[in-house]
Amino acid sequence: MQSLVIFASGAGSNAAAIISHFKNNGKAKVALIVSNKADAGVLEIAKKEEIPFLIIDKKTFQETLLLEQLKDTKPSLIVLAGFLWKIPAAIIHEFGRRIINIHPALLPSYGGKGMYGHHVHHAVLVAKDGESGITIHYVNEVYDEGNIILQARCKVDANDSADELAKRIHKLEHFYYPRVIEHLLSDQG
Ligand code: GAR
Repeated sequence: MQSLVIFASGAGSNAAAIISHFKNNGKAKVALIVSNKADAGVLEIAKKEEIPFLIIDKKTFQETLLLEQLKDTKPSLIVLAGFLWKIPAAIIHEFGRRIINIHPALLPSYGGKGMYGHHVHHAVLVAKDGESGITIHYVNEVYDEGNIILQARCKVDANDSADELAKRIHKLEHFYYPRVIEHLLSDQG
């Protein structure tokens, strides 16, 4: 069976959507969850689902150990789901087009370092944009600049709060991300 590795730093609602999608259809399994935050909600999900997890810490982080662990896990895809560190070049070099990310806006707008979660929604609201959306893309060495796989759009209402916009974006993410992953896995045969 094909396996996925998920990298996440936050609550993990995307990780949960992906886990549940593949639990229901049996087409892949989440073999490992990597987080840079010991108190991230995604780790509670990992424990509940009995998925092995790895916590990486800025001070003690060893790129080569992570790379070895990833190679041992042999993921068909590495899926970033709200992961806030930049992926080390050695990992990008090893896994190439098998690393994907989801961004909560329509790239190339509102991307780059520091643009994550509510910072993105706040910027969209300040700019008074009439629409926002999600971008699923390959990961390369530059934040949010890899080739785009899929974008989906939603309306932004003039009186939306960042929380309301985040909810609408999450709905799109939870629908599309598992389906895009399934599609990419089927391409790998
Ligand atoms: C998601 O909205 C994802 O698009 C965003 O973080 C959120 C994580 O939510 N990622 C970025 O902003 C990356 N630049 P989750 O922890 O509930 O899945």
